Amino acid sequence: MKGVFLCAGKGTRMRPISYSIPKHLIPLANNPILQYNVEKVIDAGINEVGMVVSPDMESLYRETLGTSKWGASITYIHQENPRGLAHAVACARDFVGDDPFLVYLGDNLLQSGLTEMVRKFKETESVASILLAPVDDPERFGVAEIEDGKVVDLVEKPDHPPSDLAIVGAYLFNRDIFPAIERIEPSDRGELEITDAIAYLINEGRNVTPSELEGWWLDVGRPSDVLRANRVLLEGIDGSVGGEIRDSKLSDRSKIVVSENSRIESSELRGPIHVAETSHIVNSTLGPNVSIGKGVELQDAEVENAIIMDKARIEKAALTGSLIGANAEIRLPGTQVKTIVGSQARIVEW
Ligand code: DAU
Repeated sequence: MKGVFLCAGKGTRMRPISYSIPKHLIPLANNPILQYNVEKVIDAGINEVGMVVSPDMESLYRETLGTSKWGASITYIHQENPRGLAHAVACARDFVGDDPFLVYLGDNLLQSGLTEMVRKFKETESVASILLAPVDDPERFGVAEIEDGKVVDLVEKPDHPPSDLAIVGAYLFNRDIFPAIERIEPSDRGELEITDAIAYLINEGRNVTPSELEGWWLDVGRPSDVLRANRVLLEGIDGSVGGEIRDSKLSDRSKIVVSENSRIESSELRGPIHVAETSHIVNSTLGPNVSIGKGVELQDAEVENAIIMDKARIEKAALTGSLIGANAEIRLPGTQVKTIVGSQARIVEW
């Protein structure tokens, strides 16, 4: 079975960060979002993966993933314009051929559930399988109605949801999905919805099986979701100190990673914190819930609940709930700020 990751789309809700890094490559606990997803797919027994990307973004993905990464072989598939999830799936038709396949929304993070879903699908005669989770705000998602263990209806972001069961971003299909996609029309939001293509199959009397999510699920659509996902993943790290610590205080050490060739000096660290290689942190207070990329310089700074990407430089600033792009420079003495700064940006006192 092959896997198809949907990673096209404009990432508008993630600007300005998404101008320089596709949202699927944003680091969480210093690993790109896609790494967690590809590893889950490999655990489920799939190691041939297609990435549906916008043609203008392919080079950024290639720089990070190449054609083989984290144990998976990677093929790039173009979607010229983000015309909806069903359209993105149709773009992968040649890649998947006639075999059943997995579709995974590149911006969804799942704790577990894929392996069991794939196992069950292989045993049934269904044309599709969807993963479901109860949520408090079903109107933000595709929603399923279940009767006697079968999916009887699906609606995309309904005003009046028929249940609280949201469609999580992993689907299994056989090749019957492709003619169904050809039959559907764009939705009110102008997209070819995969939900409508699956509902079409149900109306044709075909069997669509539900699978239940195990553990947490995060839909990483907005900056606040990125920070939440970073917190969840940092909670799972095993502390280790490979770098140098001088005159500093570390609390909750079992959740602090300081990687090799990084230096912490005259600072206070409160885990969970992940510091990648070659970063220098001097006279600063860090944590909780902070990821610091490679080659970052922090001096006289206070940083909590934030992601600071590679080679950013922060001096005399207090940041909370912030996403700071690679190579950005911030020098802002004074009050604490909550901000999103794109890569290469300079925000300094004049
Ligand atoms: O997160 C789960 C939800 O994902 C489901 O409950 C919904 O049924 C499903 O339609 C989807 O809704 P979203 O509005 O959250 O989808 P979004 O536009 O964020 O796109 C999800 C992923 O698919 C994202 O990684 C970008 C990619 N994508 C999106 C579009 C519209 C494509 O590759 N091509 C596209 O044309």
